[in-house]
Amino acid sequence: MSQGVQIRPYELSDEDGVVALWSAVFPNPSPRNEPHRVIASKLAVQPDLFVVAITDGAVVGTATSGYDGHRGWLYTVAVRPDAQRRGIGRALVRHLEAALARLGCPKINLHVLGANAAVVPFYQCLGYSVEDRISMGKELHAAPGLGLPVLQTERLVLRSISEADVDAYHALMSNASVATLTKRPAHASMRESETRLRRVLLEQEQGKLMAWAITARGDDAMIGLVGLCRFAPHHRRAEVSYELLQAHWGRGKASEALDRVVRHAFADLGLHRVEGHVDPDNAPSMRVLERTSFVREGVLRENFRFDGRYFDTAIYGRMSEGEAEERAEAAAKREPSSQSTGRAKAKRQ
Ligand SMILES: CC(C)(COP(=O)(O)OP(=O)(O)OC[C@H]1O[C@@H](n2cnc3c(N)ncnc32)[C@H](O)[C@@H]1OP(=O)(O)O)[C@@H](O)C(=O)NCCC(=O)NCCS
Repeated sequence: MSQGVQIRPYELSDEDGVVALWSAVFPNPSPRNEPHRVIASKLAVQPDLFVVAITDGAVVGTATSGYDGHRGWLYTVAVRPDAQRRGIGRALVRHLEAALARLGCPKINLHVLGANAAVVPFYQCLGYSVEDRISMGKELHAAPGLGLPVLQTERLVLRSISEADVDAYHALMSNASVATLTKRPAHASMRESETRLRRVLLEQEQGKLMAWAITARGDDAMIGLVGLCRFAPHHRRAEVSYELLQAHWGRGKASEALDRVVRHAFADLGLHRVEGHVDPDNAPSMRVLERTSFVREGVLRENFRFDGRYFDTAIYGRMSEGEAEERAEAAAKREPSSQSTGRAKAKRQ
């Protein structure tokens, strides 16, 4: 390989270089293969298997891979046109081959698009052969960009978030008070917020979470986030999350937004139970849950690690009203003198 080329794991600051390179060598990608989306998705799974080649501080090559316990796969092997035929492609592939071998991967597969058959000799030089296989595939997720339903309250409109909300998202996530209260590092840069917002959007498309932007009626600007995550479909259960820009604290807006999302979760998503996990020192957040009819059920001791220390988590729960009433009636019929509280019921589940 030519002198002065470094192969290393992808870093957030590489994003523009990687997007420029992929846009040059993989033109007209499908929405699923849009570069920012591919980056966010790779950073979510085996991010160490995403490497870049750097010359003079610039990204000149990329390669990604993954190991599923059976086979390893190679993707996005690319070298900037003016840096090709100098051994960089080979070095990138060799780097990932070594990483996959360390994971115990016995064989590596890759796909070359029919229209890109000219690249086959490159892989043959590296020991890969064309195999007698019929390649098949199936899309598992809905087309990108599907939004959430708009939810309304007296003062608020909850709508889907999008990349256009990145400024407000950054303001929220870089706010030191919000970060301290929620025990997570504040975002250090706009770049970090852009990447994480894309990841949120991607996970939403994958059905892992639902995140609504909180806006005031008549003003589309995002003032906070409210959502559902950690879905347990079999148990019809999910966890809530909510965050508000500091300028809007203290006016009941988080409770108003959260209550609307919880009612949507019960009435439209068929959930039975929603949970709030909160730091017992976070009095404002516990107040939001209590105002929204959540019941404190207990404390998990030192189950959360942040900044080298362990913290407790207070668990709050709220059950779908219809079912809670039905169960209370059934319990009352069985043993009229020993009706349990919502808290005791939750503990037994
Ligand atoms: C394919 C690609 C990554 C190769 O990168 P590269 O840095 O030029 O490759 P290298 O210089 O490391 O070449 C390694 C070997 O492959 C050979 N090779 C590279 N490109 C070749 C080509 N198009 N045809 C024939 N041989 C080729 C080289 O001669 C070298 O062989 P040698 O060691 O015997 O001399 C680069 O051409 C590229 O980015 N193409 C566009 C993106 C793409 O199609 N990626 C593959 C997606 S499946």
